[in-house]
Amino acid sequence: MPAVSFQHVFKSYPGPKGELQALKGVSFDIQPGEFFGLLGPNGAGKTTLISVLAGLARASSGTVCVHGHDVVTDFATARRHLGVVPQELVFDPFFTVREALRIQSGYFGLRRNDDWIDELLTQLGLADKADANMRRLSGGMKRRVLVAQALVHRPPVIVLDEPTAGVDVELRQTLWQFIGRLNREGHTVLLTTHYLEEAEALCHRIAMLKAGQIVALDRTTSLLSGTASTMLSFKLDGELPSALSEQARWIGRIVQIKAHDAREVEQILVLLRQAGCKVEDLEIGRADLEDVFLEIMQADTYPGAFVRRPEIAGVSR
Ligand SMILES: Nc1ncnc2c1ncn2[C@@H]1O[C@H](COP(=O)(O)OP(=O)(O)OP(=O)(O)O)[C@@H](O)[C@H]1O
Ligand SMILES: [Mg+2]
Repeated sequence: MPAVSFQHVFKSYPGPKGELQALKGVSFDIQPGEFFGLLGPNGAGKTTLISVLAGLARASSGTVCVHGHDVVTDFATARRHLGVVPQELVFDPFFTVREALRIQSGYFGLRRNDDWIDELLTQLGLADKADANMRRLSGGMKRRVLVAQALVHRPPVIVLDEPTAGVDVELRQTLWQFIGRLNREGHTVLLTTHYLEEAEALCHRIAMLKAGQIVALDRTTSLLSGTASTMLSFKLDGELPSALSEQARWIGRIVQIKAHDAREVEQILVLLRQAGCKVEDLEIGRADLEDVFLEIMQADTYPGAFVRRPEIAGVSR
């Protein structure tokens, strides 16, 4: 049984110009123990999908189950299986960190939970803030508390909606070590992030959402190898030959051009030489998830038809 199952999920919001379709038939499963990434540009529908999963928003149609429990008809059980770190910082300013965690434990009927609360505080670098009032914490500290709150009932499925937005390097590392440990211990993780190098390093499989639809879903390694795998990068002051300008990406003076294999690299270099381009600081590297992401998001329909069924795209790393 999947840890999380989305089946034909539609969600529309009333808008000034009629209905806004935030989700347009999203279907996929996440297997128990997976570290699953959900990527997409701003407004793609990631938070909406997570809100439907967490029971914070109701799908217009479709079904969502957590360990087989429907999030609408069997809400309490489904919710108990989930720990959700929301994208927005929401907190009660009247409590200390420890009180907030005790209250959250109480929602799940856990009375003597202080050992686990202490471990969460230590693991998330909050031990010396246990008695601090929530409103006195910095933004990054508040986010740590939200992570602790989500984990207070040891949920089998951990959902993180941009947990590292505005978070310093040290916490990112502590957070990923801790979440990585929980994942190795069997917890399923669903992560959204705009830090694609995080997703590349952590996620077994990745789904890409664009305007409410899944446009790619595969193992991270397959996504990386299924596209142009080489990236040429160099500095240029002048113009690019027209044969190259369409496929090039500019970052200031730096030009990036994708190549599928050594022959294409050679062709690009020949074109540059023939056009008399003065190339500086040439580097040839591997395409990363950011390149794959941009390629998929810019395509009208992704040529590789990358949406594979979960039973084919296995879970192991
Ligand atoms: N409560 C709401 N009422 C009306 N429209 C909404 C509401 N919540 C989200 N939307 C709209 O739904 C679409 C999807 O928003 P959502 O927050 O799910 O995107 P996202 O992928 O999480 O983006 P981001 O990366 O910026 O967090 C957007 O067009 C957004 O404006
Ligand atoms: Mg969001």
